[in-house]
This record gives sequence, C-alpha cells and structure tokens, in this order.
Amino acid sequence: MKKKPAQRSVQWFGRQDIYGFIYRSWVKNRGVPQDQFDGRPVIGICNTWSELTPCNTHFRILAEHVRAGVLEAGGFPLEFPVMSLGETLLRPTAMLYRNLAAMDVEESIRGNPLDGVVLLGGCDKTTPAPLMGAASVDLPTVFVSGGPMLSGKYRGTDIGSGTNTWSMSEDLRAGRIKLEEFHEAESCMHRSHGHCMTMGTASTMASMVEALGVGMPGNAAIPAVDARRNVLARMAGRQIVQLVRNRIPLSKILTRPAFENAIRALAAIGGSTNAVIHLIAIARRIGVELSLEDFDRLGRGVHTLVNLMPSGKYLMEDFYYSGGLPAVLRELGENHLLNKEALTVNGKTIWENYKDAPCWNRDVIHGVKAPFKKNTGIAVLRGNLCPDGAIIKPSAATPRLMKHRGRAVVFENIEDFHRRIDDPGLDIDASCVMVLKNCGPKGYPGMAEVGNMPLPPKLLKKGVTDMVRISDARMSGTAYGTVVLHVCPEAAAGGVLALVENGDMIELDVAKRKLQLLVSEKELSRRKKLWRKPKAPLERGYWKLYFDHVLQASDGADLDFLVGKSGAFVPRDNH
Ligand code: FES
Repeated sequence: MKKKPAQRSVQWFGRQDIYGFIYRSWVKNRGVPQDQFDGRPVIGICNTWSELTPCNTHFRILAEHVRAGVLEAGGFPLEFPVMSLGETLLRPTAMLYRNLAAMDVEESIRGNPLDGVVLLGGCDKTTPAPLMGAASVDLPTVFVSGGPMLSGKYRGTDIGSGTNTWSMSEDLRAGRIKLEEFHEAESCMHRSHGHCMTMGTASTMASMVEALGVGMPGNAAIPAVDARRNVLARMAGRQIVQLVRNRIPLSKILTRPAFENAIRALAAIGGSTNAVIHLIAIARRIGVELSLEDFDRLGRGVHTLVNLMPSGKYLMEDFYYSGGLPAVLRELGENHLLNKEALTVNGKTIWENYKDAPCWNRDVIHGVKAPFKKNTGIAVLRGNLCPDGAIIKPSAATPRLMKHRGRAVVFENIEDFHRRIDDPGLDIDASCVMVLKNCGPKGYPGMAEVGNMPLPPKLLKKGVTDMVRISDARMSGTAYGTVVLHVCPEAAAGGVLALVENGDMIELDVAKRKLQLLVSEKELSRRKKLWRKPKAPLERGYWKLYFDHVLQASDGADLDFLVGKSGAFVPRDNH
C-alpha cells in the first residue's frame, strides 16, 4: 500500500536541524512533552473570543472542550486568537472589517504548523470571516458555533434580540411605552452567554454552517449555555483529527451541492439577507461559482418552515427543543430539496445525518405540506434602479406592499436621514417609498445595517407599521419590513440609486422581480453628468484599502484580490 505523505506540520516539528530546534523548543516552554512532536495531527483552534464581542465571551470554555476532543483523538491542539468582530460595539460597522478578519485567519493558518483547524464563531461576522479565511487555505476544517442565548424574558413574555429592540424602539418613538420599560427590557433581553437568539444573522450563519456540512449535527441551535454545546465542541475536536488523518480538506465539504443545500435551508428558516453576501464570498474563496440568481432560482418555491422571529414568533431555544435544523433538513430531503450525497465533517452524508431527525413541535417547525409561510425564499430584483441586483426577504415583508408604486422620499446619507426623519414637517405619507443612499460597501463604508430605516414618528402615531424602503445598505437579520436591500451598483459607485430625487416615482413588483425608477433615460443621463464620485473616507490604512478594492454586494463584498485561494504552501523558513 502506498504510504501517505507526512502531515504538513512535520515540515516544522519533524525537522532534525536548527529549524526543528527552533520550531519545537519554544513550544515546549509551557510544558509540552517531546512526544507531541511525533507527527500526530496538529490542530489549530481559531478563537474569536473577545470581551468586545459580547456574543463570543464564553469561547475560552468552548475552546477547552475542543482541546479535550483533539487530545482524546490523539491530536496536538494549539489555540490562537484572531480579530473578533462584535456587532454591537464596533463602529462604523463590523462588516467593514469582515475581510480584514478573514485575512488574519487565512495568514494565521497558512503561516503556522497546522494540519487542520477548528474555527470558533458566533456573533454575525465571526462566522463568515473565519470560513472565508480558512477556505483560501483549504486545510481540513470544522466550524463550531457558540450557540444562541437563552430566550429573553420580559414581563411574562418572550422577547428576542434585535427584533424586539426595533419594535420597542418604535413603540418608544410613537409614545406607546415609557423610557423605564425600555430600560427594563435591556436587562431582560440578553440574560446568558451566546449570540442573538432570533433567527438573525448569527443564528442564520450557524444554520448555514450546519447545512453546508462544515459543522457537526446540532450546530445551529443548541443554546450556548446548554451542556450539549460543549459536547458538540468536544466531538468537533475529535472529528477534526479524523478529517486530518483521512485527508479531507474543506473543499471536499464546501462543494456546489453543499451551497445549494445551504441556500434552500436559508429559505426554509426565513434566514437573514446577510447570508446572501456571506455565502457568495465563502463560495468564491473555495472556488465554487455562486451568484445572486442561484438564491432566487433555488429558493423559489421553498417555503418558510420555521416560525421564528423576525418572520414568526418563537426563538432559537424553542427551535432547538423542537428538533432544530436537523428537522428542517429532513423536511427538505423528503421533498426533493436537498442534495443528499453532500459530505459533512462527521464523515457521513447530509442525508445519513438527518434522515431520521425528529420534530417535536409542529408549531415551531412546520412541514413542507403545511408551511409557516409560502414561497418566501429571498427574491432577487432587477430593473434600472438595480441592474446588478437587489434583494428582498418576503417572509419579513408585508404582502400588500410587495407590489407597490410610490413617490420617492430621498435621504442622501444616514446623517441626512437622522436629521430629517423625526421632523413633523417631512413631506411623506404611508404610500411613499423611502430611499437611502450612500450606505453600501464604499459609501458607508462597510455597508452598514441601516436599510430597515425606522419609520417617521408622525406616521407611526397614525398606526402605520410598514413602508417600502430601498437602499444600498444591509439590514440586521433580526429586522423586518418591506425593505429592498443591497442595491447594486451602490450609490457611491455611481449606481442609478445615486440619481434618485425627491418626487420620482418608483415601482416595486416582487412577483415579477422588478424594481424600476420611473424616470426617462434622458433625464437620468442628465443627472449622471452632474454626479461626482465620492472621495475615500480615509486616505490611509485599512479603510483606504477597503474603499479601493471592495466588490459590490452581488459579488460578496470581498476585496477583489482576496477572491479565490492560495492553498497551504509556505515557501521559506523564518530564520
Ligand atoms: Fe452578536 Fe447579534 S449582536 S449576534
């Protein structure tokens, strides 16, 4: 039988020269015995722990469980930190730094003596960033999500991260609740370790991890503080050692069929629109062509099965107790909506993992035959306002607004919006279309989650709950409304969005996938001549690099020179 080539780490630790001395000796300084350098798989534990990322503050414990698993399976664990991105504290938006964190992960993996890696992520960007970086190296990889927080509990009702933040903020602005109630809810909403417990971006991305097969079964929904989350981390630690021994790189898991499964799962869970950008970016790192059209084509006809905020009423804890993502994937598989042969990191196919998954509560996880909401996959819109695409999440929108024609009320940027939205004299009514410019990748910069613009108080007080809103921004996965997002090209890149003026008529027709600015070509070209390209927001550093190289949302908003992979090869020794 042909002998397998030595592990990659042997190029460091297996050397019997001065380099071997250097590579081993310093590692021994914390009591590592010589036998750990005998060629066993060296496993990196890539940790996005940070107190500046509240959703990931339990990750040191999680990493210890991964470490235990690696040791049990005969591997050699080495934990390392990478840049962490917290949605709630980091300004101007964590998305600005997703690609920077991905670079950190990529180079940390490639430059070190690692044979495989376990990635720990939770808060929104801490899932796509490590996956993008790891994909560009393509070693065996397992992802472990940190898990959602326990359900928020407020005055006898469940409240969800983000979703109830938006609704209570609107209630406060409309004078329906008092400031004391608002403050009380702050303490009731986030009461345990973990990430947002609605089906926001973090839970969506944890579900994508499981649907892609790059996480262990159960990854999506086990609460952060449930002992079974630690068991999952430990099993992941054991399993990564097997993946290294069996030479199964990430590209064997992240295949085109795996991404198709993820897209359908995204529709079935009513997941965050942010997943569209992240999945395209991850796919293009590993060499899988994925486009906006794939989301529309594959998601079309897939129903939302999961009754979770922001599309429904339950929370991630309920989802887990009802069967979690396994029950959803079984439904998809039984209805010919799953590529059953896709390989997962536990060594089994996705169908082997989920074909017998039980569902314990059909009010939380509906079946395909009696779905929670029908035909709600993410819709991709085209038209003169978004020739390169825009998206809308029908499951979170108001059905009667899905076909709508209205007068544009334009906000030139987020400051303009904040300055004018509360003005009782603002010329706006419920039939208007709110348009926000210059919040895309280059414009903000970083494409902030400001697309779900709060409604004007004067309309809130009249009982208006939703209006059509259009922007080149993103929206928090916990938000809702008839909100058109990711307009491409963005205003700051010279898209037609930049040319919209107050009073223009805009037509939205989601069924026909149309978004049209009803202004003549002649008038638009006149306005285009007057348009001036914005300057980079900062003339140096990462902001400049980002501004000069970021791709549009339809291409995953990666930096142009980061698309693709370079593999795990490092040419030279370091001394
Ligand atoms: Fe971290 Fe929502 S703020 S997941």
